[in-house]
Amino acid sequence: MDIVESILISEEQLQARIRELGEEISRDYADKTIALVCILKGGLMFLCDLAKHITPLVTYDFMSVSSYGDATQSSGVVQITKDLEESIEGKHVIIVEDIIDTGLTLNYLLKNLHSRNPASLKICTLLNKPANRKVEIPVDYIGFKVPNKFLVGYGLDFKQMYRNIPYIFTPKPKFYKE
Ligand code: IMP
Ligand code: MG
Repeated sequence: MDIVESILISEEQLQARIRELGEEISRDYADKTIALVCILKGGLMFLCDLAKHITPLVTYDFMSVSSYGDATQSSGVVQITKDLEESIEGKHVIIVEDIIDTGLTLNYLLKNLHSRNPASLKICTLLNKPANRKVEIPVDYIGFKVPNKFLVGYGLDFKQMYRNIPYIFTPKPKFYKE
């Protein structure tokens, strides 16, 4: 694809690491049922691949949030645009997210979900972009630490597109800078 400047994480690297994460989660939750809470839309691809490698029982639920601000800058004001369908009270919840950048979205979500009294609450993010962090977040499972660049593919979008691409790439600046 012309938009690809370079591939940061290949499909093979993604799949191998996601398998490891699934196995680690399976060991940590051996005798429990896990309530996976996927943050739409970015977390969807990751959820599907991750869940295949989790051996304890799992349930899925979905949440959608939007943060006010322009396309590339998170403001920290988060609105829930689609809430969970099930109660998470007394459940072992793992939030499944595509990327943690400033941490503002997850900071809000952690507080919000914590107030619903889950038995436990952990975070599993495919990508961690620590350079841009504005608030400290306790992340339990991390796929890859990534540099402070705009990334696209495997859940991450550019103008809502390219979420279906099976690898993560940096786009050529001419595509997103006028
Ligand atoms: P945070 O509140 O800054 O941590 O925002 C995290 C959200 O911003 C993620 O769930 C993504 O939807 C989006 N995001 C952050 N970095 C990127 C990127 O490099 N590409 C695409 N989306 C991103
Ligand atoms: Mg997201």
